Amino acid sequence: MLPTIAREADAVVMIDQRKLPAQEIYVRAKSAPEVARAIKTMVIRGAPAIGVAAAMGIALGMRKSKATGTQKFAAEFQKICDLMAATRPTAVNLFWAIDRMKRTFAAAVQAGDSVDQIKDRLDAEAQSIHDEDVASCRALGAFGADVVPADARILTHCNAGALATAGYGTALGVIRGAVEKGKRVAVFADETRPFLQGARLTAWELVRDGIETTIITDNMSGALMRQGKVDLVVVGADRIAANGDTANKIGTYTVAVLAREHRVPFYVAAPLSTIDLDTPDGAHIPIEERNPKEVTHVAGSQLAPEGARVWNPAFDVTPHELIAGIITERGIFRPPYIESLKRAFEEVTLA
Ligand code: MRU
Repeated sequence: MLPTIAREADAVVMIDQRKLPAQEIYVRAKSAPEVARAIKTMVIRGAPAIGVAAAMGIALGMRKSKATGTQKFAAEFQKICDLMAATRPTAVNLFWAIDRMKRTFAAAVQAGDSVDQIKDRLDAEAQSIHDEDVASCRALGAFGADVVPADARILTHCNAGALATAGYGTALGVIRGAVEKGKRVAVFADETRPFLQGARLTAWELVRDGIETTIITDNMSGALMRQGKVDLVVVGADRIAANGDTANKIGTYTVAVLAREHRVPFYVAAPLSTIDLDTPDGAHIPIEERNPKEVTHVAGSQLAPEGARVWNPAFDVTPHELIAGIITERGIFRPPYIESLKRAFEEVTLA
């Protein structure tokens, strides 16, 4: 399986997603601030992968702490959690993973653990977050495979693959799940301006897996659907609100509107860690705006004139009415999402 992120004794190791597919380089972040910088600069990206990186970064930072007493150790822990939380605002998996680390820390203190024991617990929790994410992706991939026709042409946007998760992927997990069940799948990958996650990362992953892949620029999907060449759209998510409104990579909303117009089912695939019942609807999801240079430059070359203003939101929100189903490790949830998503968590609590 593709190694997106791994922990070593003195570092968090991540494949550098800014360099793919031209170069396969690994970044070794040796401190919590280095991991935070890797998240911010998109060495690692994709909602679940960001959560795993933050958890491993917190565990690494605390492992390297010289504090001997729990009070100083706790102050350092809070500072590192704040640092991670300030990296990227939209993907809720980041805050979900930080919360899990905080709960682990509190339970260890409550149990009277020593600093060394707390360090061990934090390492173990970060590794669990990693391993559970792979398991969730595989489970949701198997559920999602059921909505894929036997001979399917699937359009996806951005990269919701192994690179965006701890492994296997969400939208690409559904595609992999379908292929594993013997279905024939051909994928259309939107290039995904401005960071080109589709052309660079999704295409790279799928070609490596031997899955037929056609790259299109973002403005081609309408023509493609009009010609009847798309059977299904599957995308990932950065945050799903309680009513099912879904934030995902900028351009996802456009695809969803086109899919509705052409009667193509539009599915979202994401683990429960991406669902945020505390956010009532899409209007309450914070949308990150990134550096204008991502739009005016490609691979360091300037395309646009100096002086032009730029709007560069990293995500948009697809209203729940446009979503046929939300594919999770607990099954596929259908409208009305305000009820079905709430039930998903009640079932988890009961389990
Ligand atoms: O800005 P990015 O590359 O982190 O955005 C990623 C996406 O929008 C993905 O589609 C989303 O996180 C789902 S990843 C499983």
